[in-house]
Amino acid sequence: MNIPDIIIAIDGFSSTGKSSFAKLIAREFGFKYLDSGALYRGVTLYAMEHGIIGENGDIDERALGEALPGIDLNFRSGNEGSKTYLGDRCIEKEIRTLAVSQKVSPVSALPQVREYVDRKLRELGSRRRAVIDGRDIGVTVFPDAELKIFMTADPEVRAMRRMKEMLGKGEEVKFEDVLANVKERDYIDSHRKASPLARANDAVVLDNSDMTLDEQMAWIKKLIAEKFGND
Ligand code: DC
Repeated sequence: MNIPDIIIAIDGFSSTGKSSFAKLIAREFGFKYLDSGALYRGVTLYAMEHGIIGENGDIDERALGEALPGIDLNFRSGNEGSKTYLGDRCIEKEIRTLAVSQKVSPVSALPQVREYVDRKLRELGSRRRAVIDGRDIGVTVFPDAELKIFMTADPEVRAMRRMKEMLGKGEEVKFEDVLANVKERDYIDSHRKASPLARANDAVVLDNSDMTLDEQMAWIKKLIAEKFGND
């Protein structure tokens, strides 16, 4: 399928499978995949490792502001797809732990952190042919994206997906804790002042509670064919 040089923005609630979907789209169309959540997670990991976030969750905003320009987050593609790096260190695993998940929302609510991530994304997506997933990509980061998808699914379905993913990585977690974390993040993400999770007016909604990845791919291909007249 031929597809023009566009930006595909994929926003939505946490654990709706945005990144799995975005990765598959990137592979299918030969697009770059930019995982904005990974950048927020990377900043959070950096802050945790440098004593900028205390054990109690307090964030030293001044220290974070000073550190941000020097935090070298980037993506590298290899055989297993795109991975997140902090300098030369692959941090893909660490940024997915529950410890980081529990701290990332307040970090991502800080305007200075959002500016840092937005700038990085615009830089990396400047040549288009990129699929970017997040919470505010279609509204704030790339309001001119040619294709915007807003993903949603039932919270229980999302918590089950997240739990399976974590158990698969050997992390012991309880369903109630994961469900509570999913709901808490929904709330914080939708209610924060700086750039809350929002659906762009021109975004197409995808509820994948009962859909497989294959079905989602068939759905987007049909949408692209309709919108860009390709097959
Ligand atoms: O998609 P994720 O679960 O990896 O995102 C991690 C956190 O980052 C999540 O709490 C919301 C936040 N985030 C955001 O505020 N804006 C984005 N564009 C992407 C993620």
